[in-house]
Amino acid sequence: MKVHQFDAVIVGAGGAGLMAALYAVKGGANVAVVSKLYPTRSHTGTAQGGIGAALGNLEEDSPLWHAYDTVKGGDWLSDQNAAKVLAEEAIDAVIELEHMGLPFDRTEDGRISQRRFGGHTSDFGKKPVRRACHAADRTGHMILQTLYQQCIKHNVNFFDEFHVVDVIINKGAVVGCVAVELGTGEIHVFHSKATLFATGGWGRVWSVTSNAHSLTGDGAAITYRRGIPVQDMEFYQFHPTGIYKLGILITEGVRGEGGVLINGRGERFMERYAPNIKDLASRDVISRSIYLEIREGRGIKGKDYVYLDVTPETVNRYLAEAGESRRIDRDYVESKLPDILDFCRTYLGVDPVREPMPIQPTAHYSMGGIPTNVNAEAVIDEDWTVIPGLYAAGEVACVSCHGANRLGTNSLVDLVVFGRRGGMAIADYVKHADFVPLPANPSAEVESELNRIRSSTGKTRPGEIRQQMQRAMMDGVGVFREESGMKAALDCIYELKERFNNDLSIDDKGMKFNTDLLEAWELGCLLDIAELTTISALERKESRGAHSREDYKERDDANWMVHTLVEHQDGIGASLRAGVKPRINLNKRVDTSLSDVDERFAPKVRTY
Ligand code: FUM
Repeated sequence: MKVHQFDAVIVGAGGAGLMAALYAVKGGANVAVVSKLYPTRSHTGTAQGGIGAALGNLEEDSPLWHAYDTVKGGDWLSDQNAAKVLAEEAIDAVIELEHMGLPFDRTEDGRISQRRFGGHTSDFGKKPVRRACHAADRTGHMILQTLYQQCIKHNVNFFDEFHVVDVIINKGAVVGCVAVELGTGEIHVFHSKATLFATGGWGRVWSVTSNAHSLTGDGAAITYRRGIPVQDMEFYQFHPTGIYKLGILITEGVRGEGGVLINGRGERFMERYAPNIKDLASRDVISRSIYLEIREGRGIKGKDYVYLDVTPETVNRYLAEAGESRRIDRDYVESKLPDILDFCRTYLGVDPVREPMPIQPTAHYSMGGIPTNVNAEAVIDEDWTVIPGLYAAGEVACVSCHGANRLGTNSLVDLVVFGRRGGMAIADYVKHADFVPLPANPSAEVESELNRIRSSTGKTRPGEIRQQMQRAMMDGVGVFREESGMKAALDCIYELKERFNNDLSIDDKGMKFNTDLLEAWELGCLLDIAELTTISALERKESRGAHSREDYKERDDANWMVHTLVEHQDGIGASLRAGVKPRINLNKRVDTSLSDVDERFAPKVRTY
């Protein structure tokens, strides 16, 4: 075992991790980024359509309207202080990225170009507004490259392909983490004053997902197992437009550029569900509408998909109908959506400038995660108690600006705004904090779990468990939910956990690049996350945002303006014993500070 010591360790090298590392290092900290991937392969690189900021480059806009859209889109479960920070600091964050060299698309007069996106409106919902700043449909890729270059320039230390498998807690503080070096299988202990998790989400819990294979919920599972709660796990977003069967993301930017959703009868069905804003309603609304069309037999050829049509003929017809003077042609679509065209041509043999794309909703983003305050400090209860030394930012965190449903482009805003705040908070903290000593044998428990998996001789392959879990979650805890389906999913998860713990088998018993071992370990994380998601979803007896229950169809503000915290029974510093059931705490109230001064931020029926 090797031991390293840094003021701060950042786990994960996506946008949030890199932004945090950059700001911690600029603030004087000695920082290591530890990532199971090579940094530029992080999932931020797949974010397509844009990053929201009320720059007002093409139409009048304001951060207060952005905050309002965020809170309304979140079905009023957003902590409003966090939504305000997100919207206000987005502007400066985007300008900062531009100054770092990010090649945004430009308006004719040279300013950052902006496009429409779902739920982005001006004047408190009156009409769509162009708020999404974009670099073609590769905005996340550009952010990732830009931030990585900056981190290299500022001498951040990188441990690439080091897979973090445990967090170390001693004397009530987080004092570091344990990682496996992929190339050698060697165990490394990182001793730190501050540890920030930026490990992304867990779309791989479901069978159809836009998420990379690496998105297995490691950060939230690791911290949960050691007693840090997870928050609002029932709120998992399905992006309306994934490539049929494959789940690969087709950016909302397609609809921002004028693309429309069409059912099997050739109807633009969003006119019925969101008469005002149509195809630009928020994602939960559109995903449900697609499912309803399919359920009522109006999928394409009666099947379980619909079309997304961005052919210039169709787009121009609807632009004319709406009285807009703008028209598009094939060259325009090619220049604004090159990656989307490429995906469809390559994977489907469909050319989107000539024919519509077959799409279905795809598991995309977790609104829940490790609870934090607006400085990315992890909090462990309804009193916002901070656990010293632990931070989280990006998708793994629940700050919770997105509430019950995130608006498109706000994930990129979240990771730069709260990654930056986390980095600043860490720089400040490590100046004054001392190193808390490591406990004896800090890696022993997780090493013994890895050895158990490596030497397992059961009958069940990880792939079988993974597929069954993904199918159960898709069927029981997907876009629509009801009690019996969720209970069936939970029973299935418990049975799969039993097999994972007692009947597993993997082939590779070696040390070097043992991806067989680490993928099996990741599966353990996915099973924990599936359990936490399902018990949270069963507990919340209302429909709100991305959590849509057929047995409790209404939103219930009187009883449910609270966050769901799920905790390990053994509390902070819990041991890694398998089979301990979580407990739920529903006492964390939603922050409604904006509604205290502006009645428009008070919950009301959400219409589009
Ligand atoms: O549709 C998209 O481009 C996805 C953006 C997002 O999830 O924010």
